[in-house]
Amino acid sequence: MEYVILNNGVKMPKLGFGVYQISKDECKQAVLDAIKIGYRSIDTAQSYFNEEEVGEAISECGVPREELFITTKVWIDNYGYEKCKKSVMESMRKLKVDYLDLILLHQPFADYYGAYRALEELYKQGKVRSIGVSNFYPDRLSDICLFEREIIPQVNQVETNPLNAQVKAKENMEKYGVQIEAWAPFGEGRNNMFSNPVLKEIGDKYNKSVAQVILRWLMQRNIVALAKSVHKERMEENFNIFDFTISDEDMNKINSLDTSSSLFFSHADPSIVEWFDKMIGERRHNQDSSKEKKKW
Ligand SMILES: NC(=O)c1ccc[n+]([C@@H]2O[C@H](COP(=O)([O-])OP(=O)(O)OC[C@H]3O[C@@H](n4cnc5c(N)ncnc54)[C@H](OP(=O)(O)O)[C@@H]3O)[C@@H](O)[C@H]2O)c1
Repeated sequence: MEYVILNNGVKMPKLGFGVYQISKDECKQAVLDAIKIGYRSIDTAQSYFNEEEVGEAISECGVPREELFITTKVWIDNYGYEKCKKSVMESMRKLKVDYLDLILLHQPFADYYGAYRALEELYKQGKVRSIGVSNFYPDRLSDICLFEREIIPQVNQVETNPLNAQVKAKENMEKYGVQIEAWAPFGEGRNNMFSNPVLKEIGDKYNKSVAQVILRWLMQRNIVALAKSVHKERMEENFNIFDFTISDEDMNKINSLDTSSSLFFSHADPSIVEWFDKMIGERRHNQDSSKEKKKW
């Protein structure tokens, strides 16, 4: 495993295991498999609805807590100072841990300032070892780094893959000492990522798969990466990236694939902000109706 040292001195594994879109039924086993293979960094979120299953795996895996690096993320609906603080304590209860290695604000909307102040306080109380943000593109990241904060975020987790390399965003993060972390390193397979001819050719040269080439490219750019799979053999494949080095020439070939645009959506698009607002409204409505049902 390779590591980065965050701006507060905390050591973070460069490769982590992500559990987005892993169902409650599959999550505990997937995390147990990943830890057995050697992953020590696990990335979940309040909005993935699988923190409890991650917690079961953490407490049953047999690896000492201090050897694991556990990240979760605060969902928009829990923003604001009080709600955020309460929700992080609830996440820790679900994860069955008495501290988190990293806590992130998941999205750059709503009262993220109040929420960030709560993270700063939890940090000062020693309940979280590092704090950060996710999907904070240069304008929002500069905003949080410059105004009304005591602690510079340690990490910013953003979509990063060969087709969306985040060159400018990474430069901006480096300016403030914020570590970039890649979500969707494979772009979830969009735009035929796994059969991209350039990545395939480079993979053939090093006797590695496209997935391994992508993760290695991220490691060599000093980007922390999260890979998700529910298949044990793919978890192993994705972990097996520390025994080769991509040449500068091949790194440049991969760099040239960058389109500087998201494979998913832009957080700066107002219709996307409206989509988030609608989704939150619907979730609230569903929660309220399930509470009503429980009363009966
Ligand atoms: N902060 C955010 O807003 C945000 C957003 C998205 C994701 N994330 C985090 O980042 C993590 C990774 O992103 P992601 O899950 O969206 O996408 P991803 O890692 O780019 O892609 C995951 C997909 O690739 C497949 N896959 C994995 N390894 C493979 C391999 N070696 N060969 C072929 N296919 C392979 C997986 O299928 P199988 O599972 O079927 O193997 C899955 O469908 C998430 O789990 C989550 O922790 C954060």
